[in-house]
Amino acid sequence: MVERLVVWLYDTPIGVLRPPDERGTFGLEWLPDARQRWGDNSVILSTSLPIGDRFDKQPRRVRNFFENLLPEGPARAAMAKMIRVSETNTFELLAAFGRDCAGAVSLLLENETLKGDGDGGYRVLSTDDLRDELARIDVVPLGADLDGDFRPSLAGFQRKLLVGRTDDGEWSKPYGNAPSTWILKPDGNIPSAVNEFACLNFARMCGITVPAAELIHIDGVPTLAIHRYDRNGRDRVHQEDGLQATGFPSRMKYESDKGPSLRQLSVIVNEFGNPDDVDELLRRAILHLVLGNADAHSKNISLLHPSSDVGIKIGPIYDIASTVSMKPIDEFGNAREFTTQLGQFIDGVKDVNDVTRDDLVAEGISWGVGRGSAEAIIDGFLDTAREAANADDSGLREVLTQRVQRISVGRKGDLKG
Ligand SMILES: Nc1ncnc2c1ncn2[C@@H]1O[C@H](COP(=O)(O)OP(=O)(O)OP(=O)(O)O)[C@@H](O)[C@H]1O
Ligand SMILES: [Mg+2]
Repeated sequence: MVERLVVWLYDTPIGVLRPPDERGTFGLEWLPDARQRWGDNSVILSTSLPIGDRFDKQPRRVRNFFENLLPEGPARAAMAKMIRVSETNTFELLAAFGRDCAGAVSLLLENETLKGDGDGGYRVLSTDDLRDELARIDVVPLGADLDGDFRPSLAGFQRKLLVGRTDDGEWSKPYGNAPSTWILKPDGNIPSAVNEFACLNFARMCGITVPAAELIHIDGVPTLAIHRYDRNGRDRVHQEDGLQATGFPSRMKYESDKGPSLRQLSVIVNEFGNPDDVDELLRRAILHLVLGNADAHSKNISLLHPSSDVGIKIGPIYDIASTVSMKPIDEFGNAREFTTQLGQFIDGVKDVNDVTRDDLVAEGISWGVGRGSAEAIIDGFLDTAREAANADDSGLREVLTQRVQRISVGRKGDLKG
């Protein structure tokens, strides 16, 4: 049993995390280094956990932030099995797997340090190694290697391998302090790699910032390889997801679970970030509707924190799919339909197929965007999306074109509805 975990941010030990008490409350004690480097009330770690805060009013916030670093569902269960604890044992999971996390957070044991570049590196993976990693992914999620000192954690429900990459483009396994720099997402029950890759390309065509991504095959399995924008060479870049930023627990990522709304995210962006990013939030919301992506929930958007703690920004887009175009098959081989219920609602409208331009305008206005600006952002984005849809050669063209057309209904001038 681990009694204390040291929370590192970049190369600074900022706090000591303690296991939950009898009420399930995690302890977090700030260390002098954090106060010295960033000062009290700095939101460098999270907008929900200002440095120096004692969390008396919302004791759950500490647990919520750190639990959000762990995977969900089968990956979390498999990781718990690997270390023989219950999958509800968040603290032990963080102790075992929290060394390489999203952003620049690392959770280390007391005798460990993040200082010193010499501690860690990458071992090249041969094609056979990669195939073996993939074959074991359900029992050893993320390519973790506890004996080999690769202790990664990354949120999400889908299967993933976390890897490094040599200058020659070969995949590698990190160890020690070396961070994973790419995420490999192989197709499983839900064939999503081709779809996700196409959606990322479409987003780029629409002017949204997208991480470098490739569609590769590992042992014949279509796999999305996506570069980690929270890495810069061997440096970690800090980010937190929408649930962490708003202080919600991981089980509340969908608004239908009473998780954060887009308006709540806009409040965080307005308060701590660049107000121009509120416009970006609106463009993202339109993009999801054009794609027919009902799975845009609050963990599928992240905020980048510069190390100076000035100028928090919405990070590049990730985990996007045209869920309305997906044809998942269940374990019995039966075709299933994806839900069309939105991860985050638009002006109270819950179905990805029901949202209109007027709903988008009303949503933007509720965040403080003026009507004229909201209309200009929406119409401008729909124009760009229409062109991008015309140029699409991924097989999504028809869906995208029809969806742009449908959302545009209500626009004054060229379209009537
Ligand atoms: N390119 C990236 N760079 C940095 N971090 C990323 C990137 N892509 C994803 N992440 C982080 O990893 C987490 C999991 O990734 P992703 O959302 O793609 O997985 P998923 O399992 O498909 O998620 P879900 O459970 O939403 O289906 C994200 O919530 C985000 O924190
Ligand atoms: Mg996700």
